[in-house]
Amino acid sequence: MDPCRALALAAGLSAAAVAAPAAGSLAITPPATPTAAPALELHAGPEVDLPFGEDIGFPAGPGADAASANCLTCHSADHTLNQPSLSRAEWRKVVDKMVTAYKAPIAPADATAIVDYPTRIKGEP
Ligand code: HEC
Repeated sequence: MDPCRALALAAGLSAAAVAAPAAGSLAITPPATPTAAPALELHAGPEVDLPFGEDIGFPAGPGADAASANCLTCHSADHTLNQPSLSRAEWRKVVDKMVTAYKAPIAPADATAIVDYPTRIKGEP
């Protein structure tokens, strides 16, 4: 008995398990002849008209830059603009809530200027 088989048998494997594979079972299938990949065709992307046009930020005007810089990191401008109109004191509370509850990195010195903006465009009449 050859030493390999003897070792396998000693390890508890049956003689059949270590029998040589049947002739032909190791035949290697030749790889399919590679065919040229079809040339990629480029299509122009679909035209999409977003409801808010090109500008998804806040409407321009005094304070718009501050609002864009501080109020668009977590949600869209719409999230603010679609709220009911609020008084200045209520907008102040909203901005404070963004800072305290949601950790908006707004310096207290900037908060007053930021509150002016929604008060102007979404303030109570
Ligand atoms: C750090 C992230 C973050 C920033 C920055 C942020 N918000 Fe928010 N805001 C949130 C989260 C979170 C909610 C709650 C989401 C929801 O209601 O679906 C929210 C909700 C709101 C709402 C809905 C009403 C409410 O009280 O929940 C308004 C209005 C709003 N934000 C305005 C602002 C304004 C104005 C600014 C800029 C001063 C701002 N947010 C900046 C995270 C942020």
